Amino acid sequence: MKTQYYTASSLDGFIATPDDSLEWLFPLGDINATGYPAFIAEVGALAMGSSTYEWMLRHVVRPNTAHPGAWPYEQPAWVFSSRSHAPVPGARIRFVRGDVRPVHAEMRAAAGGKNLWLVGGGDLVGQFHDAGLLDEVIVQVGSVTLGSGKPLLPRRITQPSLRLVAARRIGDGFAELRYEVPRAPGPAA
Ligand SMILES: NC(=O)c1ccc[n+]([C@@H]2O[C@H](COP(=O)([O-])OP(=O)(O)OC[C@H]3O[C@@H](n4cnc5c(N)ncnc54)[C@H](OP(=O)(O)O)[C@@H]3O)[C@@H](O)[C@H]2O)c1
Repeated sequence: MKTQYYTASSLDGFIATPDDSLEWLFPLGDINATGYPAFIAEVGALAMGSSTYEWMLRHVVRPNTAHPGAWPYEQPAWVFSSRSHAPVPGARIRFVRGDVRPVHAEMRAAAGGKNLWLVGGGDLVGQFHDAGLLDEVIVQVGSVTLGSGKPLLPRRITQPSLRLVAARRIGDGFAELRYEVPRAPGPAA
């Protein structure tokens, strides 16, 4: 069981524009040509912050519109927010706040031995990393720059550095990079 941050990013390290648009992302390639189908098949639980949840509501679920959509995940999802949100009927969503560690324990217990997906955003993933709970970062780096926006992972991770374990070209729109997150060395014995 691994805790994985799987996301797409611009070349300059943003996962969305400042106003949470992903319009730049979809023309870059077909999600089914990426590692996503194999990745999601191994996910047992997922977590996201409220901006990501609200994006899903606006663009996928679209409640109270003529053409609402379904919540896209069968796996249980934890949404971090300090505010109250309307639930999505039929979706397995729990709203949580604060310390990520007890939530991570709940996710592990629910995941049936499968991986945990940190959907984003970057600071929420940083909170898991701060707690020593992030194992892998898998990024589809898109062939665009945004100049500003929501950061991929706003933390300084240098010593030890991430370990690049795979790099794959996906057409001319993406490079898929997979990194392992080494554990910081413990105190000398
Ligand atoms: N490129 C991609 O593949 C990709 C992937 C994922 C997301 N995205 C997009 O990237 C953007 C990410 O937005 P974002 O950077 O603002 O991150 P986010 O994690 O989606 O949302 C951040 C918000 O979550 C809440 N939150 C975070 N940690 C919390 C905690 N421990 N306890 C309680 N609440 C907490 C806070 O808001 P409140 O307390 O006010 O609710 C915080 O402002 C979204 O537009 C999303 O759609 C893109």
